[in-house]
Amino acid sequence: MSKVTWKPGTFINPVPAVMVSCGTMEKSNIVTVAWTGTINSDPAMCYISLRPTRYSYNLIRESGEFVINLTNEELARATDWCGCRSGEKYDKFKEMNLSKEKATIVNCPMIKESPASIECKVKEIKELGSHHMFIAEVLAINVKDKFIDEKGAFDIQKCNLISYANGGYYAQGEKIGRFGFSVKKKL
Ligand SMILES: Cc1cc2nc3c(=O)[nH]c(=O)nc-3n(C[C@H](O)[C@H](O)[C@H](O)COP(=O)(O)O)c2cc1C
Repeated sequence: MSKVTWKPGTFINPVPAVMVSCGTMEKSNIVTVAWTGTINSDPAMCYISLRPTRYSYNLIRESGEFVINLTNEELARATDWCGCRSGEKYDKFKEMNLSKEKATIVNCPMIKESPASIECKVKEIKELGSHHMFIAEVLAINVKDKFIDEKGAFDIQKCNLISYANGGYYAQGEKIGRFGFSVKKKL
């Protein structure tokens, strides 16, 4: 048994599939994004990469703001739909029966049904090739209170977050360890 070498491509799996809301409360849109992630801890920074042909691209480029809404099993259909249809033709909030919620700092709406909505401000745009990378600072994190446990922490197991791998959507599996478990001394 050995490894087969393939030509370069996008192969980091799994990744999140988030719903990015953008624009304003009046003129808003949602775009599904898999090319997203954390890139710095302090200050908290993240990125999304978009093709310039996306309707959302100019909305984000012009306003310099967006909200990353994490997705769960309940939102899987809407996540896929918002990634297959363009805001140029559809009001995605309306079509997917999603509610707009005012963000605390940015002017874009948050998606009320999402378990967590992360308000972001664009700091830099890197024109990489097919996609342009919006590097952003996290301004605020808004978590649905039903997913906050008695200790005030985010209860990740309760909210059924989904991931995206090789074209498929996946539910979270069983927890198999905790940060540092490999080096923890046995009592
Ligand atoms: C699971 C999934 C992940 C996606 N990830 C990205 C991405 O990272 N960047 C991107 O530009 N488009 C991505 N797309 C495609 C856009 O979401 C899609 O073209 C969408 O219709 C664009 O919407 P808009 O024209 O309203 O902005 C993804 C689609 C799906 C279904």
